[in-house]
Amino acid sequence: MFRLYGLKGDGGFMFYSVAVDGPAGSGKSTISKIVAKELNIVYIDTGAMYRAVAFYCIKNGIDTKEQKAVIAVLDDIKIDIKLENNTQKTYVSGENVTDKIRSQEIGAGASDVGVIAEVRKKLVDIQRDMAKGMSVIMDGRDIGTNVLKNADVKIYISASADERAKRRCEELKNIGVEHDFELVKNKIIQRDKNDMTRENNPLKKAEDAIYIDTTFMGIDEVKNTVIKIIKEKVGL
Ligand code: DC
Repeated sequence: MFRLYGLKGDGGFMFYSVAVDGPAGSGKSTISKIVAKELNIVYIDTGAMYRAVAFYCIKNGIDTKEQKAVIAVLDDIKIDIKLENNTQKTYVSGENVTDKIRSQEIGAGASDVGVIAEVRKKLVDIQRDMAKGMSVIMDGRDIGTNVLKNADVKIYISASADERAKRRCEELKNIGVEHDFELVKNKIIQRDKNDMTRENNPLKKAEDAIYIDTTFMGIDEVKNTVIKIIKEKVGL
């Protein structure tokens, strides 16, 4: 199939969307960011939104596993996603939390609040709204199966738990944080289980998604593979 993206007959633009899903530490956000830059499209990190909810809860002493307590404050959580220099910045009640939400603790909390249907509804509405009127590459857990069910391109990126834990340990080492490989790996496995077994829009590969196993691939190779798939599918 060949479709032309660019100026339509009526002078408007046609936009395309790329859905990228996969488990924690698979490298999907690193790849999506690079691909967005290279194709000059917008990268939307949906995990940051679940992390923002977890951040608010933890800051306000709310246990992220206490679903009723999280739902009770949901309307008070003001999340703003802004694009600054083409990079997504996340704000919670006016505070820029972009860097603060990257910790393992917030990641686990995000996985907890991601189980809650009310949380998902609030965030999915924001995500769908953002994807309107521009070409995007959006990453998360339920993008190809739910948020952008009609995405032009769907990709599922994964890697072995060992490899993902190794990458996470390297990241931690680079920011000078002490780490224990087995502990990091166990946390990753726990998060996979939580994300894949929840009732509401669990992480799974969309039937029409292309699976890329990055266990033995470098960043450049994955990036080139993804760009090739997008160009083929979209007809760029
Ligand atoms: O991609 P990430 O590590 O920033 O995501 C953090 C958690 O947020 C993830 O473990 C589950 C949840 N999440 C989700 O449920 N749905 C998404 N589309 C994105 C993230």
